[in-house]
Amino acid sequence: MRVLVTGGAGYIGSHTCVELMESGHDVVVIDNLCNSNPRSLERVEALTGRKVSFYEGDVRDEALLRRIFAEQAIDSVIHFAGLKAVGESVAQPWRYYDNNLNSTLVLTKVMADVGVKRIIFSSSATVYSGDNEMPLRETSRTGSCTNPYGWTKYMTEQILSGIAHADPEWSVVLLRYFNPIGAHESGMIGEDPRGIPNNLMPYITQVAIGRREKLSIFGNDYDTPDGTGVRDYIHVVDLAKGHVAAVTFATENTGCEVFNLGTGTGYSVLDMVKAFEEANGVRIPYRIAGRRPGDLPVCYADPAKSAEMLGWKAEKNLRDMCRDSWNWQSRNPMGYGE
Ligand code: NAD
Ligand code: WQD
Repeated sequence: MRVLVTGGAGYIGSHTCVELMESGHDVVVIDNLCNSNPRSLERVEALTGRKVSFYEGDVRDEALLRRIFAEQAIDSVIHFAGLKAVGESVAQPWRYYDNNLNSTLVLTKVMADVGVKRIIFSSSATVYSGDNEMPLRETSRTGSCTNPYGWTKYMTEQILSGIAHADPEWSVVLLRYFNPIGAHESGMIGEDPRGIPNNLMPYITQVAIGRREKLSIFGNDYDTPDGTGVRDYIHVVDLAKGHVAAVTFATENTGCEVFNLGTGTGYSVLDMVKAFEEANGVRIPYRIAGRRPGDLPVCYADPAKSAEMLGWKAEKNLRDMCRDSWNWQSRNPMGYGE
C-alpha cells in the first residue's frame, strides 16, 4: 500500500511513518512544517533505511494535493495535519477552524475527485462530553466541547461520517487518541514542542534535562485517589501501530467506524512523576498549583472495540513510556534543534 500521511513530520506522524514502512507500506508525506522539523523525516529514513517521499506544503493547497495524487499512486490517507494546542485555540479560534476544517474539506474533495476513498483521521478523546461515566466507550456522549480545538475534532468527525454516509464507497476510520507519550525506543524521534510545553510528559522531561525549573501540578483536590488528575497515557509506538491496523481495516471495510486508542488504565499526575523518577533515576521537583481551566478530573478509555475489530491493543507499559520519553529527551536536549 502507498499511504499519504498528512502531518507526517509531526510527533505521531513520524512514529506512524516508521511503523507503516516496517510493515511494508510506502509512505508519502505532506507537511507545511508549521509545528515540526524536517529532521524528523531524515531520522525516519535513517531508522527504516527507506525513502519517504516528502512534499513541503499546506493540506489546504488544492493544486499541490492534485499534484501529489497525480504523481503518487496513493491507496489510503492518514490525516494527522492539524493545529493541536488547546489554549492557543481559545485565543485564535479562526486560525484553528480554518486550518483544521479546511484541510479536511480540501483533502476529501481532491480524494473524491481522484477516487481515493479511504481516510484515517486523528480524532481525540476531547470529543467526549465531560459528563460521561468512565471508561469512555465509542458510544459515550460526544459534544459540549470546551474549546475550539475540541470542536474542530468534533466537526471533522461529522464531516467525514457524512461523506461516508453519502457515498458507500468511502471507508472512514476515526481514531480517538487518549494521551500519547513516549518516543521510538531508538531515541531518534520524539516529541519536540515549540516553546513552553502544554502537556505533562514533555514538561516533565524538560524539567529533568534542566530546561525548566519545576513542574506545576494543576490541582491536587480532585476526587481521585491522590487528588491529582487521572489520564490514559499511551505509548506513541503503540498508537502508531494502531494506525497500521486501521489502514488494513480501511482496506477491508467500507463505511465509518470510530475507535478509541488508549490502554484502558488511568494514572494520576503524581503516579507519572513517581514512575518517571523510578524508571530513570532522576528527580522531578514539583509544586502544587491551581486547577487548569477546562481539565477533567478523570479520563480513560475502554479499548475493547479496538481489540475486537482492529485486532490492536497497547502493549507497552508506563515504565516503557517513561524510559523512552527520557531516552529521547536526554539524547536530544533541544529536540531536533541545534
Ligand atoms: P504535531 O503538531 O506534532 O503534528 C501535526 C503536524 O501537522 C505538524 O508536523 C504540522 O507541521 C503539520 N500541519 C499542521 N497543519 C498543517 C497544514 N495545514 N498543512 C500541512 N501540515 C500541517 O501533532 P501530533 O501530536 O503529532 O498530532 C497529530 C494529530 O493528532 C493532530 O491532528 C492532533 O490534533 C491529533 N491528536 C494529538 C494528540 C496529542 O496529544 N498529541 C491527541 C489527540 C489527537
Ligand atoms: C495531563 C494531566 C493536567 C501539564 C490534552 C488535550 C487533549 C489531547 C491530549 C489533543 C492533566 C496535568 C499537565 C502540567 C499538570 N490533545 N498537568 N502540569 O489535558 O489530558 O489532554 O492533550 O487532542 O485534547 O486537552 O493532557 O498532558 O496537558 O495533561 O499537572 O504542566 O497532567 O492537569 O491532569 P490533557 P496534558
